Amino acid sequence: MRKIVIAIDGYSSCGKSTTAKAVAAELGYAYIDTGAMYRAVTLYLLEHKIAFDNLPRIEQALHELHISFKRNRRTGRNELCLDGEIREDEIRQMYISNSVSEVSVIPAVRHAMVSQQQRMGRKRGVVMDGRDIGTTVFPDAEVKVFMTAETRVRALRRQEELAVNGEHVEVEAIIDNLTKRDHIDSTRTESPLRRAADAVLLDTTHITIDEQVDFVLERVSATLFSL
Ligand code: DC
Repeated sequence: MRKIVIAIDGYSSCGKSTTAKAVAAELGYAYIDTGAMYRAVTLYLLEHKIAFDNLPRIEQALHELHISFKRNRRTGRNELCLDGEIREDEIRQMYISNSVSEVSVIPAVRHAMVSQQQRMGRKRGVVMDGRDIGTTVFPDAEVKVFMTAETRVRALRRQEELAVNGEHVEVEAIIDNLTKRDHIDSTRTESPLRRAADAVLLDTTHITIDEQVDFVLERVSATLFSL
């Protein structure tokens, strides 16, 4: 069976990664969470006290740091590693969420991440989620889905995820963070968040995870059938 690229883009916290992970598991494909990569760069810059406007130092940092994913055999989860060390829990914390959009507007950061993502998906057989997968990373992806949901619903889902990680954040603070990030992500000049002309829209406000996954799998089946 021919292997394809499945691009899942959309707003923050509307279920992209949960859907992408389940679709990848179902198809035996690799799952790549590109947001985790931007979060890892943010963590690196903060830990090394590199200012977000210090472009020469950021370019140097992009050569120094090493981002990879390691599969946790116990949980089946693909965990983000920064310089060989699993940093999955740190990158999900609120202080990273508060800075990541600022870091992901930097063109040098985007170029480095996009080329790494293209290398990771070059053999196809991947489900990649992010903001610019269907427009910039894999404009030739065979299946493109653009996900959205009402802001309050997204914030409540995010609050639950943070609580699982032991972090308790007021829903209003999360709404504030999501709104700011969506604004920065969709108005930046370099590969902004936008729906590719050929992406199918999926509003997850009133549907379950299973329904989201089935929706994408149906698109995949239809695409594989037509190839
Ligand atoms: O999916 P996420 O919330 O973990 O992503 C974190 C941030 O990374 C998001 O606010 C914007 C940025 N991002 C991006 O600019 N391009 C991507 N392909 C993925 C994420």
